[in-house]
Amino acid sequence: MSADRKFFVGGNWKMNGSKEAINGILQFLNDSKVPANTDVVCAPPMVYLPYVKERLQSGMQVSAQNCYKVASGAFTAETSPAMLKDLGVDWVILGHSERRHVFGETDELIGQKVKHALDEGMKVIACIGEQLQERENGLTEEVVFKQMKAIANNVNDWSKVVIAYEPVWAIGTGKTASPEQAQEVHARLRAWMSENINPAVGQSTRIIYGGSVNAKNCQNLGSQADVDGFLVGGASLKPDFITIINARC
Ligand code: 13P
Repeated sequence: MSADRKFFVGGNWKMNGSKEAINGILQFLNDSKVPANTDVVCAPPMVYLPYVKERLQSGMQVSAQNCYKVASGAFTAETSPAMLKDLGVDWVILGHSERRHVFGETDELIGQKVKHALDEGMKVIACIGEQLQERENGLTEEVVFKQMKAIANNVNDWSKVVIAYEPVWAIGTGKTASPEQAQEVHARLRAWMSENINPAVGQSTRIIYGGSVNAKNCQNLGSQADVDGFLVGGASLKPDFITIINARC
């Protein structure tokens, strides 16, 4: 973390929840105080976005988990940034590993989505991360730089972008990257941004970590110099999320 980069914690609820379960989540979210200088953004399933937005405390924001690359048209089941903005939703997660690996989204499509969402005035949590075999073959840097480039080519305003480094092998597995592993990749990503975009962007862009973050490991991870927060899956559905948003307090 760095004093000039605001700590950022996102809760990616993925395809989980019901009104009843969400009422329980809202209770612990609304009972908590958001620490100073921290962004907290919750991403419920699309269908529950208005329900959550209407009930969530004003100190927290909501995000969609995905959106499409054009404003409207014959794209059955898709949601556009214009529609999200219409509901007052300003954030969207793009390029999540489940979108890439379960639904086959390519770097090219993710880049197009990033561009359109930013053009429409949204803020983007753009996800990247290597698979286990890629790490074991020493390809981590190559993979994340390639994903990063596909995103960076489509960004004009970096103040609207948060990069989420989520190693695929750490997502939902209980196998967290060690603080050193996370720091190493975050530092290289920051260096890549400084060299390939410009030093100011490298210095100011938040790079958050995702993959089995929990109430126990969040402090060590969050104390790393280049870890500016988290994208939390499973633990974002539980009161542990409150411990996580307070990780650097
Ligand atoms: P888990 O925290 O459940 O590992 O999920 C991480 C993630 O994919 C957040 O986007």
